[in-house]
Amino acid sequence: MKILGIETSCDETSASIIEANRSDRKVKLISNVVASSLRLHSKTGGIVPEIAAREQVKYIIPVIKKTLKDLSIAIDAIAVTVGPGLIGSLIVGVETAKTLAYVWNKSIIPVNHLIGHIYANFVGENPKLNAKRYTLNANIGFPALALIVSGGHTDLVLLKDHGKITWLGGTRDDASGEALDKIGRLLGLPYPGGPAIEQTAKNGDSKSYRFPRPMIDSDDFDFSFSGLKTAVLRKVKTMKQLNNETIANLSASVQQAIIDVLVSKTLKAAQKYKVKSILLGGGVAANQKLRDELKLNARRYTLNANFFAPAKKLCTDNGAMIATAAFFNYKPIPWQKITTDPELYFDDVLQ
Ligand code: KG4
Ligand code: ZN
Repeated sequence: MKILGIETSCDETSASIIEANRSDRKVKLISNVVASSLRLHSKTGGIVPEIAAREQVKYIIPVIKKTLKDLSIAIDAIAVTVGPGLIGSLIVGVETAKTLAYVWNKSIIPVNHLIGHIYANFVGENPKLNAKRYTLNANIGFPALALIVSGGHTDLVLLKDHGKITWLGGTRDDASGEALDKIGRLLGLPYPGGPAIEQTAKNGDSKSYRFPRPMIDSDDFDFSFSGLKTAVLRKVKTMKQLNNETIANLSASVQQAIIDVLVSKTLKAAQKYKVKSILLGGGVAANQKLRDELKLNARRYTLNANFFAPAKKLCTDNGAMIATAAFFNYKPIPWQKITTDPELYFDDVLQ
């Protein structure tokens, strides 16, 4: 079957098509179109919800048309992100998806954005998208542990199977991506801070500044990243002037602090729940150092746990992960009953 996935929870407008069948459960990516209003937000150093929603309205139809190759691809079902996210952005995708489901008489499946990020790991090979980085969904064994690290979330969840998800812990304040974005701004780097810090850190020494590793030894699976931002701010205030070298060293040091906490907590949970797979998801999952360190340590410290990360293109928001989550948790509901839920979380897993 072919599923059209629509994702408009924040500043990306995406529509993708996956093809999958129930017999081998392999997911093939047919097309993946993403438009972003990111550059409009770089002027303000953060997302302006009103602008994001207006841009969603502008992009949604051209993006869907492009992914369907001007309607030459026939689809069987529609999957759409219903939350969490910005209300104005979500409404654009949800109302469009409902209209198409009605007009085309297709099934529609509501998807939780956070669960979508996990399912980016289950998208199979597409030679066009750097196939070597892809994992085959058939190899992902349960129980699996997922670390979701994005601009809005930092969560550890346990998947006993498809549709059986338990939340283990999450951030008490800023998400890891949010911390990187705020610290990027402090260092005068372009928005979003995550990729900018990764780039700048390549020329820096991660041991030059010793920033705190908040909650690294706490007895739970929670995180806290707002103190890190304050620590960087304090450090920057003591420095007369930031130059390329100090910015690179600060970037490398702060990136390492965040990675150390994420890796340590993830491994602790992987050992406790004796998982077979560790899955990474969300925009921050595009960070190569985080991927490398999790992979290395998963092999070193956990029993038989394989590490998976989505292709980098599928770490940030996209429709393919939404369509894939819908395939593995196929629960269509009447379009009249589908509504947006900006506060949706793991407690009310909607899949
Ligand atoms: O998943 P996503 O596209 O949107 C949300 O659902 O929030 O994640 C966006 C976040 C931003 O905070 C951005 O700075 C971060 O992901 N990010 C990265 C990288 N690419 C994006 N953080 C670290 N390294 C990267 N390469
Ligand atoms: Zn996201």
